This record gives sequence, structure tokens and C-alpha cells, in this order.
Amino acid sequence: MIQIAPSILSCDFARLGEEVAAVRTAGADLLHVDVMDGHFVPNLSLGVPVVESLRKATDLFLDTHLMITDPLRYIEPFAKAGADLLTFHLESNSDPDAVLEKITQCGKRAGLAINPDTPFERVIPYLDRLDLLLVMTIFPGFGGQKLMPETLTKVQQAVAYRAEKGLHYRIEVDGGVNADTAAMVAKAGAEILVAGSAVFGKADYVAAIAAIRDAAR
Ligand code: DX5
Ligand code: ZN
Repeated sequence: MIQIAPSILSCDFARLGEEVAAVRTAGADLLHVDVMDGHFVPNLSLGVPVVESLRKATDLFLDTHLMITDPLRYIEPFAKAGADLLTFHLESNSDPDAVLEKITQCGKRAGLAINPDTPFERVIPYLDRLDLLLVMTIFPGFGGQKLMPETLTKVQQAVAYRAEKGLHYRIEVDGGVNADTAAMVAKAGAEILVAGSAVFGKADYVAAIAAIRDAAR
């Protein structure tokens, strides 16, 4: 089953609560929350207090994408704030084993993300402990970029590896997903589609989410 996760990075932050309620009504399955530290990526977005407020405002599953240099240090604060799933980058500075352990200790779901230039082989040692593998289809940092189709080979590899080893992680793609690219990512095997500008950049969120979902079918 395909799930759509609107990324609030592209929403109107002055109306955050209304925006979240609107995408929930429009059929969002999860809410993608992009955390950027201005160091791991050349952009700043939001932090722990915003996740805390989101938790009070919605019952949507908070799919939290940590684009930060030192994820280990912030797992507990984000967990306490109410994030449901914490995804960190393999390219960050923390030891992935330690971060995964911390996420589990905090009682949260664990996700690992890989950038377009990181080969699939590098996540293999961690896959048995993951709830989610996030294959970045752009270099992270900004919404509104164009999807890099060559990254989808890794989605196919992740699908094949999971079947071969009997593992259970879900596969998410993030970056440049819209009604034109959704068919391609779904065909590769992605199950959770993050979409920022393709949802919040449209006037009609119901139509925007439906268009992505229909294209992915
Ligand atoms: C980028 C973020 C994405 C971003 C996607 O670094 O991780 O989640 O919001 O935006 P679109 O869907 O516009 O490419
Ligand atoms: Zn993201």
C-alpha cells in the first residue's frame, strides 16, 4: 500500500496548525517533519519546540527526518517532544549503532536515510534493525528540487534485499515526488512517498494528494 507523507517544509509556517489539519483532512497518511541544522545541510528549518506543538495539534504519525550532524544528541529531546519515527542520516557524524540503540531505548520507530551518492551496500549492516529506509531522491536541504531517477536503483535493491533476508523495513522516498514522478517511484518499490511542494504548493490539497496517490497506483 502506498502512503503519502506531506512535508511541512513547504507549508505556511504562520498557519502551521491549520495546514496540518488541512492535509490530514485531505488524506495524508503521515506527516513528514524536516529538521535541518544549517550544518549537515545548508539550511535551517525547525526543531524540538515545533515537534512538541505539532504533537499537541494532530494525531497524524510524525515521520521526523533529522538532517543534522549530531543525531545522537537530539534523539531523546525529539522522542520526548512526541515524534513517532526518527530518521537520521548514515552520512551524519554519529555512530549509527549508537543512534539506533538510543531510538529503541526511547521507544520510537527507527529510520535511516541515505543521500543520492551513498551506495545501498552501506546500509546493509543496519537493515535488520530498521523500521524505515529513506532513500533520498535529491540532495537534502531544500524543497522543490527535481527527482534524480538514478537513485531509484537503490529502492529496487532495498526491495530485493528485504525479500531475500525476510526483513520488514518500509521504504520511503523523499525529494521531487509529484504526480509526474509518483508512478516511477512506486514502480521501483517505494511505499511511503514524501511530497512537499507537490502538496503545499497547490491550492487544493485534496486534489494534490489524490493526484500523487492515483499516479502511484
Ligand atoms: C528536503 C526535505 C524534503 C523536502 C521535499 O531536504 O528532506 O522532505 O521537503 O520537498 P519536495 O517534495 O518539494 O521535493
Ligand atoms: Zn525530508
